[in-house]
Amino acid sequence: MTVEMLHMVDTPAVVVDIQRLQTNVADMAAFAAGAGVALRPHFKTHKMIPILRLQEKAGIKGVTVSKLDEAETVIGAGFTDVLVAYPVVGPRKVARLVQLAKRADLTVAVDTPDAAAQLSTAMATEGLELKVLVEVDSGLKRCGTPPGSPTVDLAEFIHCLPGLRLVGLMTHAGHAYAAGSPDKVRLIGLAEGKQLVDTADQVRAAGLPCPVVSVGSTPTARTAGRVAGVTEIRPGNYVFNDAIQISLGVASLEQCALLVISTVISRPHPDRLVIDAGSKTLALDRGAHGNALIAGYGLLVGYPHLVLARLSEEHGVVEVRGEGPLPAIGERVQVIPNHACPVVNLADRVAVVRGEEVLEWWRVDARGGVR
Ligand SMILES: Cc1ncc(COP(=O)(O)O)c(C=O)c1O
Repeated sequence: MTVEMLHMVDTPAVVVDIQRLQTNVADMAAFAAGAGVALRPHFKTHKMIPILRLQEKAGIKGVTVSKLDEAETVIGAGFTDVLVAYPVVGPRKVARLVQLAKRADLTVAVDTPDAAAQLSTAMATEGLELKVLVEVDSGLKRCGTPPGSPTVDLAEFIHCLPGLRLVGLMTHAGHAYAAGSPDKVRLIGLAEGKQLVDTADQVRAAGLPCPVVSVGSTPTARTAGRVAGVTEIRPGNYVFNDAIQISLGVASLEQCALLVISTVISRPHPDRLVIDAGSKTLALDRGAHGNALIAGYGLLVGYPHLVLARLSEEHGVVEVRGEGPLPAIGERVQVIPNHACPVVNLADRVAVVRGEEVLEWWRVDARGGVR
């Protein structure tokens, strides 16, 4: 793509490079097949059924979602093997889950006895059986039971409850995003896989079933997924990649499939340009789990001496931090967002492009689906 590209599309625009997307989708599917693990990609990254269909074609076991809104979207589109990798708590949520369990082959992550008891009562009342993975904290310090005996204890509790079927363990090593170097990312991925496999062994030693050992993030999928005993990976971001993945050494610029096309609208000072993409397009995300390697709010392709230093809602303030050519007022620039997932959630639709050509527009099906 060039900066003159897509002159028919108004800016700021979120575009998906279809060739890069297809390559990313195929590469992860090939990795999973080679490593002998199931691929259950996370839908929250793209929230678009056409992309899920590409993933399906490449070979996936099922889908991961966070929210029930996302589960309803994917099940409505005919995907039935769905993992809700998020605690489902409270009567409204549990009632929605019951309805979904009547239509699909659902699995839910559970990390507290309270949540397990709520689900058990609801499922048993309806004569349903819900598959459950115990969520283990492998270092992110978000949800999840500690590895080892606390996880075994919760697994035992779940195993004894009516309406629930214990099928294994899951974890997400999101702390890899704060790792700071590719070597540290790899070590976190190995530890993620090993901790979960060791805990799964302890669950089995207690006489409990544990066929599923599910790990993964985009940074750790390729290391954790190679640990013997891991059965499934759940990367999401890999379909697009972004500036955070580049900073971690996980992806190259050429592997970033989601771009924001923006126009230079002002140059009020020799050292300052303004573009028409602000926080309502790019999001203020600099890495939820800490990332010291991120300098601004996105990478300007072809301009390594420019830093997207500040965002207000509709303005992106670009600082000139070195020598080199500058885009003129009215010229278009390509921005690789720091974090692709919230950018998609802010867009109604994305332009699907091949080279200079817009092939079609995809609606963001589960946009704003946070309930
Ligand atoms: C539980 C869970 N699994 C998988 C993923 C996918 O990880 P990534 O976005 O790094 O691909 C996430 C991302 O937040 C997650 O929370």
